[in-house]
Amino acid sequence: MTDGAHRTAGRTALAAPPPADPGFGVYVHWPFCKAKCPYCDFNSHVRHSPPDQARFVAAFRAEIAHTRERIGQRRTQSVFFGGGTPSLMEPGTVGAILDAIDAAWPLDARAEVTLEANPTSVEAGRFRGYRAAGVNRVSLGVQALDDAALKALGRMHTAEEALGAVAVARAAFERVSFDLIYARPDQKPEDWARELSRAIGEGCEHLSLYQLTIEEGTPFAALHRAGRLIVPEGEVARALWDVTQETTAAAGLPAYEISNHARPGAESRHNLLYWRYGEYAGIGPGAHGRLDTPEGRVATSTERGPEEWVARVEAAGHGVIADEALTRAEQADEYLLMGLRLSEGIDRARFARLAGRDFDAARLAALLAEGMVEALPGERLRATEAGLPVLDAIVADLAA
Ligand SMILES: C[S@@+](CC[C@H](N)C(=O)[O-])C[C@H]1O[C@@H](n2cnc3c(N)ncnc32)[C@H](O)[C@@H]1O
Ligand code: SF4
Repeated sequence: MTDGAHRTAGRTALAAPPPADPGFGVYVHWPFCKAKCPYCDFNSHVRHSPPDQARFVAAFRAEIAHTRERIGQRRTQSVFFGGGTPSLMEPGTVGAILDAIDAAWPLDARAEVTLEANPTSVEAGRFRGYRAAGVNRVSLGVQALDDAALKALGRMHTAEEALGAVAVARAAFERVSFDLIYARPDQKPEDWARELSRAIGEGCEHLSLYQLTIEEGTPFAALHRAGRLIVPEGEVARALWDVTQETTAAAGLPAYEISNHARPGAESRHNLLYWRYGEYAGIGPGAHGRLDTPEGRVATSTERGPEEWVARVEAAGHGVIADEALTRAEQADEYLLMGLRLSEGIDRARFARLAGRDFDAARLAALLAEGMVEALPGERLRATEAGLPVLDAIVADLAA
């Protein structure tokens, strides 16, 4: 597969070698949005009256304390407020949750604290408050720089308003990222190239560029099924992907993960923690965690419904509804699935420690010969660009 080998040349390694210990982080989920976007299947809910933030703060505090009891001491390297729309939180709410995290697992002096924000002017008005509360990085859901596309995505902001929010964010935070969705209906590669160049021109250190996914159960899925929403496929989808890789790499923001691009050194440390299969606590409705307990690594998830989650926490001190020990094989599979997304790939020795065995030599040799994976210095292995679209199959093959 010469094509695969050629495309692989576009994948770059990280500026610094990955740390031996991926560290510990905390994910906090805020489950409310002003309106539900028709493509989105995240755990986000619209309420007619605003939620009682003080009541939620008390529940977040309780769940953090409960998790602290469970796992003991840690140092926090990253915190991520995701949603939903965390920029609907009052700065005081964010500050109170950060205080509770710091009391449970002291924040490292250089901890990365990210908050996801929707780019409306109302939310931008809260950015300085978030900065004062301890947030040092924002990730804005710009989604498109084209008003017709924003309307079609059901967004509540224009491109100009979104770029205004980016400017306010850059004045308030050292580290700013924004999200764009591409492979939208009718999108042409040349239009996307222009839009992406304009986005890069904003000068942010990090961009998340997601291909539009039709998620089951969303209004977009119903339209898609009815033939009323047609997304680029085949060659056009491939061309959109290629434009994305080439334009970002040429601008010094290469992909370090399938959808994430950064100036070397400006990668999201919290997201790297997931992909490096580090340890993280998931706090709030519908949050997932991977915790290292005396009984081994466990996968946790909490009640998804916001009001149901608060009620559970008030009754039991936590909203955890699933808490499952992971077998060695499951951990090794998760490590592969996460790590092979990264341009730095995975550490074969760590896989062997988790799985209790090395890869099957014949299967690995076949994947290498087909150009689906490639060996990197330091006994590392990564998916090639040809392998990325079939990552699940590669993981299944390597894990077998
Ligand atoms: C959970 S959302 C939170 C961001 C924030 N609420 C917003 O919308 O600006 C995180 C990101 O996921 C991406 N996303 C959500 N649904 C998607 C889909 N169906 N296809 C592609 N990207 C999607 C969007 O780019 C969005 O910014
Ligand atoms: S994309 Fe963001 S604003 Fe829209 S529903 Fe999903 S989480 Fe809420």
